[in-house]
Formats: sequence, C-alpha cells, structure tokens
Amino acid sequence: MAIILEGVKKIYPGTTEPVMEDFNLTIKDGSFTVLLGPSGCGKTTALRMIAGLEEVTAGKIYIDGADVTTVDPGARNIAMVFQNYAIYPHMTVRGNIEFGLKNYKITKAKIQERVNGVLAQTGLTDLAGRMPAQLSGGQRQRVALARAMSKSPMAFLMDEPLSNLDAKLRSQMRSELIQLFDALGVTFIYVTHDQTEALTMATDIVVMYEGRIMQQGTPQEVYENPANIFVAQFIGDPGMNVLKLKNEAFVGFKPRALRLVRPANGDFEIAGQILTREFLGHEYMYTIDVGCGRIVLRTGQMIDAGTTHTFYADAADLCYFDKNQNRTFEPQQAKVVQVFHVDE
Ligand SMILES: Nc1ncnc2c1ncn2[C@@H]1O[C@H](COP(=O)(O)OP(=O)(O)OP(=O)(O)O)[C@@H](O)[C@H]1O
Ligand SMILES: [Mg+2]
Repeated sequence: MAIILEGVKKIYPGTTEPVMEDFNLTIKDGSFTVLLGPSGCGKTTALRMIAGLEEVTAGKIYIDGADVTTVDPGARNIAMVFQNYAIYPHMTVRGNIEFGLKNYKITKAKIQERVNGVLAQTGLTDLAGRMPAQLSGGQRQRVALARAMSKSPMAFLMDEPLSNLDAKLRSQMRSELIQLFDALGVTFIYVTHDQTEALTMATDIVVMYEGRIMQQGTPQEVYENPANIFVAQFIGDPGMNVLKLKNEAFVGFKPRALRLVRPANGDFEIAGQILTREFLGHEYMYTIDVGCGRIVLRTGQMIDAGTTHTFYADAADLCYFDKNQNRTFEPQQAKVVQVFHVDE
C-alpha cells in the first residue's frame, strides 16, 4: 500500500502554531518506512493522520492513489500498534486476537483458522490459553501485533512499540519485526526516536525535525551521505563532528574518521588535548578540546588523557556543508573557528 501526504498542514485545536505545514511525504508500497526524529518533531501526529485518527488542517492523504483525507480510520485497511500495547487483561491470548475479529462477517471456522494462523506466525501457539498477566513484556507486545495482523491489513502503523521493553528484548523484537515484515510483504510505517531501530529495520528512513523532513533515504544513504548538518549530527553514535569555518561554511567528519597519523590523502588537521577517555569494550571514545570547542574520537588506540596531539582526517572522510547547513561538494579550505552543534 503506497501512502502519500501532500501539502499537509496540522494545527491542533486550541493552538495557533502549526505542528507541520506543507508536509510532503511518499511512502513506497511494501517499504519498511521509519519516521525518525527527536521528541516533539511531529512523528506521532503524522502517523495518526495517516491512520485517520487525527484530522488534517489542510492538504491531502492518498492511499494507493485514492484520496482518503476524510475517510474513517476503520475503512483505511490499516492496523495500528501503540507504545502501550492495549491488550485486554481479562482475556486470554486467543481471546484478545479473536476479539479484534468479532465484527467481521466471517464464519466461526474461518475465524479460528485465521486466529490459529496468526498465533503460529507470531510464535504464540503454545501461549494461546494464557492471560496477559502471565506473559513477559515482549510476549504481550507480540499479542498486540498478532491482534493487528488478524485483520490482514495492507499497512501496519507502529508508534514506538518497543520503548517499554528492556534492551535485550528490544533487540530480539527488532529481528522478529524484520522477519514479520519479510513474511507479510505489506507496508510498515514505524515511528521512533531511536536511530538504532531505524538503521537496523528500515528500508526507508524519514528524518524529521520541527515538523519538517530533513532527509529521506535508505539507512545507508542517511548514514553515509547526510543531506545537512542536522542529519549528520543526529545519525551516528555519536554523530558527526561539525566545525564552523571562517568563511561561514562547515566541515564534518565522523568520530571514527579522525587519525593520529597523517594519512596519504590527509586534507584536514587540528590540534587538541585529550580530555576524557571512555572504554566501550571493543574501542575507546575520547573527547578532545580543540580550543574552539570539543570534538569526539572513536578508536581502538589507547591514548592518555591530558596529552596533546595533532589529529588528521582523510579527504574522502570529510563532508562539507554550506552556510545554510546543507551538504555541498565544494571543498572549503578556510580556517576552523568553532565546533558547531545544531542546537547552538
Ligand atoms: N493533542 C494535542 N494538542 C496540542 N498540541 C499537540 C497535541 N499533540 C501533540 N501536540 C504537539 O505537536 C507537536 C508534535 O507532537 P508529536 O506527538 O507528533 O511529536 P513526536 O515526534 O511523536 O514526539 P515524541 O517522540 O515525544 O513522541 C509537539 O509540539 C506537541 O506538543
Ligand atoms: Mg510520539
């Protein structure tokens, strides 16, 4: 199911500032599209408008070419799974899944067939008779997914469905969701502010900030080729180091791109003092005071805090941004004047 938002504007009742304006987004049929961005950027709002749970103030929403802007949520053939998976505590796993189908005009036998199929697909067959209180967080989340799946929707909308799970379960559910996506072959739209979730699961990432789309692309594209400084600093662990130059342009490089030895194609150097060292298991993360601010280095090399070095970057690892903070492919040779962060 392909979904298009065209010139969408949203002002919540009782407020005057639009959450978004002239918002244009195309979600490809069969994609796993992740809406990624910091808190308050409008991810949930966008998702709820697609589901029909929130009205648009202006603009249009199309599903597979049809204008659904004023179509009821129930008639959009979309299932939504929320952060606080609303499953009924007084019903068994099977009961919860059946409940979603009770208004469907299909025979009892057909319902059972469908419920059994969904239970098997989500690995819940052996737990069908249990009550929600007897399940782990991950299993409950799977019940919510199973209930959404029972209606055979053409698209799944998920709003931070893993945020209540611990780190280990989250990573397990990520691979389960990827398998589910591969098996179902329908469109997934997934909202998160967690870039790991986005990079691991998405076929398409939409990076949002303050109601605007900063970049849309594959995980590789947004990671390797950020379109602007916001994306460069938002994606990565941590994001790119970005330095403001005397000519108002910017140069950026990833924390792993800094070297202690001048590379053959060395195009950038900066002196600095190691402030802190953090051991990450397979490598170290350092903060470096470069005079006009702090940058971050990740390397397997052991360096002592307090020591001063010249750090280098290879020309191929440099990203340039113009004075409007958009990517430019014109190399900039001006002097560094400031370490730059988007929120400054
Ligand atoms: N019902 C509402 N009435 C008024 N303003 C709202 C309402 N819901 C959301 N907003 C505002 O709209 C903006 C976008 O909110 P939204 O919930 O879409 O953000 P989000 O990207 O999902 O954030 P988070 O990651 O925190 O869930 C925020 O500034 C928020 O305060
Ligand atoms: Mg939200």
